[in-house]
Amino acid sequence: MSESTSLVVNLLPKNIRQSSAIGAEIQLAPGMPILNVEELTRKDEDTLRQALLKNQVVIIKQKGIDPTVLPKLAKIFDSNATDIHSAGENAVSNPRNILSAYKTGRIPRAPQVGIVGSGRFQDYEGIKELEVVHLVGFSGWWHMDTPFYERLPGEVTILHSIRMPNMPDQKIKFPDGEEKQIAAGATAFFSGARAFEILTPEEQEFALNTTVTYAPQAYEYIRQCKASEDGLTIPRFGREVPVEKRSDWAWDKVAEHPMVWRNPLNPDRPFLQFHGCCVYKLTTRDPHTGAITVLDNVEEVRKVVYNMQRKIYTARNIYAHRWEEGGLVVFHNRGVMHSITGQLLKHKEDDDKRRLLWQCTMTSTKPPKPFRDYEGVNDSGYARV
Ligand SMILES: [Fe+2]
Repeated sequence: MSESTSLVVNLLPKNIRQSSAIGAEIQLAPGMPILNVEELTRKDEDTLRQALLKNQVVIIKQKGIDPTVLPKLAKIFDSNATDIHSAGENAVSNPRNILSAYKTGRIPRAPQVGIVGSGRFQDYEGIKELEVVHLVGFSGWWHMDTPFYERLPGEVTILHSIRMPNMPDQKIKFPDGEEKQIAAGATAFFSGARAFEILTPEEQEFALNTTVTYAPQAYEYIRQCKASEDGLTIPRFGREVPVEKRSDWAWDKVAEHPMVWRNPLNPDRPFLQFHGCCVYKLTTRDPHTGAITVLDNVEEVRKVVYNMQRKIYTARNIYAHRWEEGGLVVFHNRGVMHSITGQLLKHKEDDDKRRLLWQCTMTSTKPPKPFRDYEGVNDSGYARV
């Protein structure tokens, strides 16, 4: 196998990256108009991995890619990826689960690839009637692609835009008064490494010593809750679905992850990675005394984690990807949080404003590792019972 690479990596311009530490574009070799995974050399694969670990989001411009290529491409970044979509082998249809409301479909010839977006489509990829729903308000829920139950997060997610709404740009207003102009239907990202970097030394120390337990059936638990305007937390407690109204669950399937992750793709940078709406319990171990502190009042837990993560929510720290039809985006699911943006739901009958994306995210067999290894840290991926 040839060891040369003809892929070119260009960082996104400074005025777009700002201080997000996110974003690079890959130019394919002149002889490869469409990404052909089989033709990539080992050096090419390494170039792709390096570009992702340094920039968290990589963009490959192209049209006409086959959906079956997406899972193969994902495995270049995650050798432990299974062929199972993070949301399960079939699309979520259980009405108890918040994700079912998005009415996502799956591509029959590539079941690892989901179809997400907004609007009604006929005879699409062998699906007679497809309706996808863009649920969120102006700023969606920041999340990683993982259910926090039963399945572990994949290392990467790949998105491919098929159709984007024809709408004017929108503006996000930030708490500090700054504004950011973004494309309608943009996907927004912030880096977990950047989120860690801007914490105070005390907060960093706390985060490094803390394990996050997620709510049992996390998305069912919060399905009636409303996210804060910034999409990072649930400001009002009280609408959580009681345990007897959630699907059956077991503690050994409940997600439990370190608050700060060590990424094999980028082992020297600590990544602050948690979903501020799905959290349930924090367990902190004092590294000097070994004393364990447990915070299990959900309202308090949300406040503690929100106070840390909200610092990243500024115009300069967020990268909002402006989709072009045919664009392919690979993002480091274990290194960023992401959110859909825009108010598309009210336009779902408007042909010109429909949106369609493919999404390939596969459960990994390896749990996220803690940045700081210490006795008693949970790195199994699931709550200990
Ligand atoms: Fe997502």
